[in-house]
Amino acid sequence: MADKLWGGSFHKRLDPAADDFNSSIRVDQRMYRQDILGSIAHSSMLASKGIISQEDAAAIRDGLAAIAAEIDSGDLTIDPAAEDIHSFIETELTKRVGDAGKRLHTARSRNDQVALDTRLYIRDRCGETMKELKALIEVICDRAEEHCSSIMPGYTHLQRAQPVTMGHYLMAYAQMFIRDIDRVSDCRRRLNVCPLGSAALAGTDFDIDREMTSDLMKFDGPCANSMDGVSDRDFVMEFSADLAMIMTHLSRFSEELILWSSWEFKFIEMDDSFSTGSSIMPQKKNPDIAELVRGKTGRVYGDLISILTVMKGLPLAYNKDMQEDKEGVFDASDTVLACLRVFAPMLKTMRIIPENMKKAASSGFINATDCADYLTEKGVPFRTAYRITGDIVNYCTQNKKTLEDLTLDEFRSFSDEFDDGIFKAVDLNACAAKRISYGGTAPENVLEQIDGARKLCAGLPV
Ligand code: ARG
Repeated sequence: MADKLWGGSFHKRLDPAADDFNSSIRVDQRMYRQDILGSIAHSSMLASKGIISQEDAAAIRDGLAAIAAEIDSGDLTIDPAAEDIHSFIETELTKRVGDAGKRLHTARSRNDQVALDTRLYIRDRCGETMKELKALIEVICDRAEEHCSSIMPGYTHLQRAQPVTMGHYLMAYAQMFIRDIDRVSDCRRRLNVCPLGSAALAGTDFDIDREMTSDLMKFDGPCANSMDGVSDRDFVMEFSADLAMIMTHLSRFSEELILWSSWEFKFIEMDDSFSTGSSIMPQKKNPDIAELVRGKTGRVYGDLISILTVMKGLPLAYNKDMQEDKEGVFDASDTVLACLRVFAPMLKTMRIIPENMKKAASSGFINATDCADYLTEKGVPFRTAYRITGDIVNYCTQNKKTLEDLTLDEFRSFSDEFDDGIFKAVDLNACAAKRISYGGTAPENVLEQIDGARKLCAGLPV
């Protein structure tokens, strides 16, 4: 039937419900720029190889450029009833430039076309994701610098463990996001091969120049196997996995910020511009933004699982199942960008309350290890020092004291090795400041980490 690009030998129209079900335009219309870029490259190559005339190529190029500009400006509406973005653009072009438009699809199939568009789209999205991650890391570095020596309890099992600096804690997340950038950059490098010219699956008998189209679209080269070119969706799965991991990091971070905004902790307070209230409880200030980021992690994981499941068991080469590859990864990518764009300013504006962190660090005996280390340095075997310190902690608990409250006589009642030095040894600031091992919590180390992260961000190609 005439109104479908593939209707050549068909005698009946597609059933309306099947037509609607089959259409992907709602999802793939966002790739119109990539589709047009690919078609312009393809038609230039066809002309340079003498497969179509230079005049036809010029008409195609100008027609496509006009279509792109009109979709951009809103003058041309993408037909919601079209089968997909490829069909819509080709049909629209043919309406405008006639036979030249009908020659565009020479030596090409929608199978290599959709693989190309999706790669181009995700390649752009990799760049945007890296840019937003970089902006977030920069905010983390600023906040970490500001609080490089603010003492807080470091936790294991959510039990107070050892004193750390807020800067050190924040920079732990910076490291995760640096790895995320690296993963996305790696994904972009790996996906940067051009499937165009794979045609339906077997390649084509036209004398095409795949290097040329690859170069025109800034790919590293054409894919080496046409069946792989039209079937490979590794890059969708890989990018989805990278996005899921970013969400894991954002979600852990969110969880802590939510916890720390509670009255039980009050280490931080979200700025009013990033909190909401309750319609019934006037005292409430809720960290909704962080909660939503944590919540949205679920859908991004879901998107990853969906594409993995769609691809498993598919025979080579193209199957229509693969039309389901885009919705999830677009959703995951939109979600991650939205989360990153709101997370960075939330972090930038939140109030950090060092007094409360210090107060929490002062109870819970988080300097007990330092007391044991002190005795060990005096020559007491570590296991003995550990036991003596345990006895001191019990003594303190019974007498409602902290290690910092004890007198030298009290310390010496547990071991003759104690002298004046113990006060410095259990002072929380000193405890953090002396952890100068590479990567440790001392403020000077944190400043080094910040410096390293800033340099890395500055050197990123985004
Ligand atoms: N809309 C289709 C998709 O997203 C385009 C490819 C169609 N190819 C085909 N042989 N039906 O996968």
